[in-house]
Amino acid sequence: PRYIWLSRHGESQYNLEGKIGGDADLSERGMKYARKLKDLVEKYVPNHDKLEVWTSTLRRTQQTAQFLPNPKKQWKALDELDAGSCDGLTYEEIAQRFPEDFAARDENKFEYRYRGGESYRDVIQRLEPIIMELENQENVLVITHQAVLRCIYAYFMNSPQEKSPWMSIPLHTLIRLEPRAYGTNVTRIKANI
Ligand code: F6P
Repeated sequence: PRYIWLSRHGESQYNLEGKIGGDADLSERGMKYARKLKDLVEKYVPNHDKLEVWTSTLRRTQQTAQFLPNPKKQWKALDELDAGSCDGLTYEEIAQRFPEDFAARDENKFEYRYRGGESYRDVIQRLEPIIMELENQENVLVITHQAVLRCIYAYFMNSPQEKSPWMSIPLHTLIRLEPRAYGTNVTRIKANI
């Protein structure tokens, strides 16, 4: 069978502080996940010696990949949704400083574009070449970010694009997709750390 493997980066310092965006390092727990991910790959990925690992250009995804001996590729197109002026803020701070934007995002999370940043629709557009590559690849693990993974996941699950912002992609979980002619099978492997 042909599988596509997906994972968010391990918990970051920003995740702990509730801040969005940025380029933070992994937390201690996030580092534990990075180590555990190596074990999970060895255990669950057939032909893991031939696996390719794709990350974004951000530290937290590379740190998550660091214990995997596999060849790696970095893609700018896998970077997290750009929150523009809101980068580095908590949702509470965004609600205080940019109340209209906060309400607008609540109203239409798919179309809402951060000031100087991106919307989910924008992310889907820049993911197009990645998704095309993934369609042709045999054995890839993609380690990236929440919003980006929601879009990739929705695509392979054949969900309408507009539903992407609500896909559930928890931390510290390795997701196995098996695309088939009539739909994609999903297996979620929790790291329990
Ligand atoms: O909080 C982690 C994070 O990856 C942020 O960097 C990003 O802005 C956010 O999740 C995306 O999730 P949502 O679209 O629900 O705000």
